[in-house]
Amino acid sequence: MINQKGGVGKTTTAVNLAHGLALKGLRVLLIDLDPQGNATTALGVEKFTTSPSSYELLFSGTSAPHWSVTRYENLDLYPANISLVRAEMDLYHLGDERQNALRRVLESRDFPHDVVLFDAPPSLGLLTLNILLAARYALVPVQCEYLALEGLTMLLDTIEEIRNEQNTELEMLGCVLTMVDLRTKLSQDVIREMREHLGDRVLRTLIPRTIRLSECPSHGRTIFDYERWGSGARAYEALANEVADRLGVAPAGRKGEDS
Ligand SMILES: Nc1ncnc2c1ncn2[C@@H]1O[C@H](COP(=O)(O)OP(=O)(O)O)[C@@H](O)[C@H]1O
Ligand SMILES: [Mg+2]
Repeated sequence: MINQKGGVGKTTTAVNLAHGLALKGLRVLLIDLDPQGNATTALGVEKFTTSPSSYELLFSGTSAPHWSVTRYENLDLYPANISLVRAEMDLYHLGDERQNALRRVLESRDFPHDVVLFDAPPSLGLLTLNILLAARYALVPVQCEYLALEGLTMLLDTIEEIRNEQNTELEMLGCVLTMVDLRTKLSQDVIREMREHLGDRVLRTLIPRTIRLSECPSHGRTIFDYERWGSGARAYEALANEVADRLGVAPAGRKGEDS
C-alpha cells in the first residue's frame, strides 16, 4: 500500500484487504511499517506489546523474529510499535544497506504466507523505499477528490524508476479509488479522469465512503467483523477478489483448481 499522501485510505485498505484475502482462505501476513501504527490499532493489537514488531523484523539481520497472530484466522501481523519512530534514522546509519534491509530479512527466511502486505507511511522516505525494494507489487490507494491526480504522476514515475533500476520484480498492481461518493458529480469526474489518464492501471473496484469504514478502526475490528453485509465489506470483498485475480493467487491446496 503506497502513496506519499496521508489520509488517502492506505491503512483502511491494508487492513480490510488483508482480512478480505484471509477470508478467501489465503494465508496473509500484514507488516505495519507506518510509525503511526494505525493498521496495528485497527486490528485491535496493542501498540506497546512486547511481541516482535516490524522494527525488530527490519533490524533482525538473518534471524527474523516470529510474527503475531491476530484474532482473525489466516491473518498474521508484524505490529508497529513505538520503536518504529526511529527506524528512518537507524536505516540511514546502515550505510549501503539502508534501502535493502527489509528485502534482505524477508529473503533470509521462509514465510508460509500466500500474500504479504505492507502498510507504508505517508512519505517517500527510507521505510517506503525499503518496501518498494522488497515488494513485488505496488497498490496505490487514491482518494476520490479534487486534485486526486496531483502527485500521483510523480509517484508512478518513482515506482517505474525503482522498477528499472533497483527492483525489476516490482509491478504496478493498480490504483484503487477510495472514499468514493457516487452521488456527487465530483466523484464521477474524478473516476472518469483517472480512467482516462491511467486506463487499466485503475482497478475496477471502487471503495465507497461509508461511516462504518471510518468507525471500525476505533473498535479494533475490520469491516468484515464490524458490519459484514454492509457496502464497505462488499467493496473490500470485491477488491480482495480483484487483487487475488491480478496476483494469480489461490488458497493453498486449491491452486489451479477450476472455480
Ligand atoms: N472508504 C472510507 N469511508 C470513510 N472513511 C474512510 C474510508 N477510508 C478511509 N477512511 C477514513 O479516512 C481517514 C484516513 O484513512 P487511512 O486509511 O488512515 O489513510 P492513510 O493510511 O492513507 O493515511 C481515516 O480516519 C479512515 O478511517
Ligand atoms: Mg496509514
